Amino acid sequence: MLRYVKILLVVLAAIASAGLAIVGFLLVPTLLRLIHFRFDVTLGRLLSASRSPRAARVARQHAPAASGYGLELRDVTFRYGPHAEPVLRELDLSVAPGEHLAIVGPSGIGKSTLANLLCGSLAPDAGYIQLGGVPVGDLAPKQRAAIRTLIPQEAYVFTGTVRDNLTYLAPNAHPAEIHLAAHAVGAAELIARLGGLPAVLDPDALSAGERQLIALVRAYLSPARLVVLDEATSNLDPATERRAEEAFADRDGTLIVIAHRITSAARAGRVLVLDGASAVVGHHETVLKRSALYAELVRYWQPGSPVPDPAPVPRRRTALVPVNRRRFAPSDGSRGE
Ligand SMILES: Nc1ncnc2c1ncn2[C@@H]1O[C@H](COP(=O)(O)OP(=O)(O)OP(=O)(O)O)[C@@H](O)[C@H]1O
Ligand SMILES: [Mg+2]
Repeated sequence: MLRYVKILLVVLAAIASAGLAIVGFLLVPTLLRLIHFRFDVTLGRLLSASRSPRAARVARQHAPAASGYGLELRDVTFRYGPHAEPVLRELDLSVAPGEHLAIVGPSGIGKSTLANLLCGSLAPDAGYIQLGGVPVGDLAPKQRAAIRTLIPQEAYVFTGTVRDNLTYLAPNAHPAEIHLAAHAVGAAELIARLGGLPAVLDPDALSAGERQLIALVRAYLSPARLVVLDEATSNLDPATERRAEEAFADRDGTLIVIAHRITSAARAGRVLVLDGASAVVGHHETVLKRSALYAELVRYWQPGSPVPDPAPVPRRRTALVPVNRRRFAPSDGSRGE
């Protein structure tokens, strides 16, 4: 009897282990899949956690380095939407390091758009813009910021100390440098009136001109060698505007001014006139003779002043620009396109 019980137990044990083996056989792939899944998820999390900074680092390492700060625009077309009319079409322009260029044109013609394209804040739909020999959009943001600065039409001032506002683009600026910059652009008296560098600014308590002076000192202190002033002195009186512009012109680097006064344009080495049909670039006196729009703007800016009648544009490459195409071309043969 005992023998039969033992045999029965052995048979039952065999069945149980076979059953376990079958269940195990069935479960193992599922378990493996689970383990694999968890491994994948964990690894994925690890990778995704490290991808952004690492990818950013790799991108930074491979970002091309600019050589200088010369600007080259070739066949640049830009529109604000796929179905919109281009604001700028097939533009060519060269701006050499150290130049002082004024951009003029009627309201809404595309001056601020061009300023943003030059600085890499907007990307062209066609053509290319190089800064220091590199497409401006390919530069690492830090390098771009180190090379160029743009002061927009509406000067940005934030609640904080005068020093924080002035040194936003040059955090390590020494107080002596800050005072020199403030003096150069004509903001020293304002800063003293505000209570000096440690005083806290209330942006709403500043006039538009005072905000512009703060922004001008900030740009002057920045390491950027290319400074673009987009009507950044429009709320200053003519004498203060002159002082600020001359300070930037004397500063090492390129100055591009979107001008709203004839005096601004006349001070520049070259003037670029944008109109809806074409564009002309050259010295003030030359452009005055060749661009009807510029002559008209000058008359508007200086009523009563004698302005020569614009001469017909000579038939060379500049004159081959079809009406309704906007191309920047030299009118004085001095540089470029
Ligand atoms: N973000 C935008 N989205 C769509 N259209 C825009 C945008 N910004 C500007 N525009 C349009 O592009 C054209 C050029 O604008 P832009 O501001 O460059 O002109 P502007 O010459 O600087 O004018 P202003 O002298 O008034 O400052 C205008 O027709 C304007 O309405
Ligand atoms: Mg504008």
